[in-house]
Amino acid sequence: MDNSRAQWGSKLGFILAAAGSAIGLGNIWKFPGRAFEGGGGTYVLIYLCMVIFLGAPLMLTELSIGRASQANVVGAFRNLEHKGWSWVGWVGVIGAFIITCYYSHVGGWVLRYVYGYAVEAPTIYADPLGYFYATLGLGADGNTFFPWVAILFAALFMVCNAVVIIRGVEGGIERFNKIGMPALFVILIVLLVRSVTLPGAEDGLKYMLSFDWDKVSFNTVLSALGQSFYSLSIGMAILITYGSYLPKAENLPKNTALICAMDTIVAIIAGFIIIPAVFATLGPDQVGKGGGFAFVSLAGVFESMPGGRLFGVLFYLLLLFAALTSCISLIESIVAFLTEHFSWGRKATTIWVCFVMFLIGCLYTCSQAAYPLKGIWYDAVNGVTFPALCDAMEFLTDRLMIPFCALGCCLFAGWVWKPESAIAEIEQHGVRFGLKKVYSVLVKFVAPVAILAILVLSLVTGTTLS
Ligand code: PFF
Repeated sequence: MDNSRAQWGSKLGFILAAAGSAIGLGNIWKFPGRAFEGGGGTYVLIYLCMVIFLGAPLMLTELSIGRASQANVVGAFRNLEHKGWSWVGWVGVIGAFIITCYYSHVGGWVLRYVYGYAVEAPTIYADPLGYFYATLGLGADGNTFFPWVAILFAALFMVCNAVVIIRGVEGGIERFNKIGMPALFVILIVLLVRSVTLPGAEDGLKYMLSFDWDKVSFNTVLSALGQSFYSLSIGMAILITYGSYLPKAENLPKNTALICAMDTIVAIIAGFIIIPAVFATLGPDQVGKGGGFAFVSLAGVFESMPGGRLFGVLFYLLLLFAALTSCISLIESIVAFLTEHFSWGRKATTIWVCFVMFLIGCLYTCSQAAYPLKGIWYDAVNGVTFPALCDAMEFLTDRLMIPFCALGCCLFAGWVWKPESAIAEIEQHGVRFGLKKVYSVLVKFVAPVAILAILVLSLVTGTTLS
């Protein structure tokens, strides 16, 4: 359909872009808190098993579907002559759309904190929670107001994304990742050295290297499973889009292994930065996860460490690069679909779609503190509930759409397109894939059962699993 289809300019460019998609807020602010809850080293071990046995085969599957079909997430199934499975792509692209609405706003808050630490760190230190709430439209007197600060920074963040996407796959996405990802690694190492050399950091280090099986429950295992999917960007069909820009001679299993390894190493290093730093400054009972922890509690960490202001700026810059490269992958997957499916122009599509997602994201930000905007949710324990809109949006994508799309991909690859076709796609140009038997079993049986377990259990028990 498309002879002039974009391609990555180099192998390194693709690997950095795919790793950039995977390495995001999930690695840096979700993983450390989860690792702490799941018993440190024990969680890391369980997580590693999830990445190796489920995450990697699914990533390989998405990349193979993408490269074989040479199309966007929806067109991929039609090009492989199974149009009836296009719903998997639709779930992926709609999920990516909803995630981008809020991911881009959180990216904006991160940008606000880069600015905040650079310019007014003492104000943050004086009242970390007040500073966070003021960004989101909640005043000290309890009055709410329009969160224009958060929204202004979210607009800036979205403009950065749009500029990169408009420049195209090679000239925009690849080029940006070639700068952003090395910068991210350098900052990560600087922060790691700072954290582990803090007096009192040893206890945190010991915790991360210890095995406490008492803290492990079935929920821990499911949490590690959900976390690994989110972290590897699986189940949004994004890797179908990124795979479709890959030349046929590329070795997919090797690339998959590399991307999974990079993503996991960054998550583990983030754990080794945050846990020891919190142990050394605030104490073990202060470890948390999510936005409140990343924006509020960490202020105490930076305040009490020597050179904390500089490390604060570096930390939020790290988050910023991570968020940008992930958000870019989400938007690319949507833009690739819209431009190919409707033959729309890339520039106008990008501008419009970013604008609409930014507007919807404003509702997300407003529902965080300023206004009582509600969504609707159901689980068997609590029945129908009306959570804050921001929570409902995350529930919808994390608990429902990501597992649903991932399940669709592996049922498609395991039982319809068949592992033999994926293997034939992988084994081109003399590439040998030694693990094909294991791969087939994982994709046909193990992955679908595990994903069904996530889907059902999260709806039955109401637990957050991603
Ligand atoms: N993998 C990203 C993270 O860990 O933050 C988030 C993400 C990006 C999820 C792209 C899903 C996705 F399609």
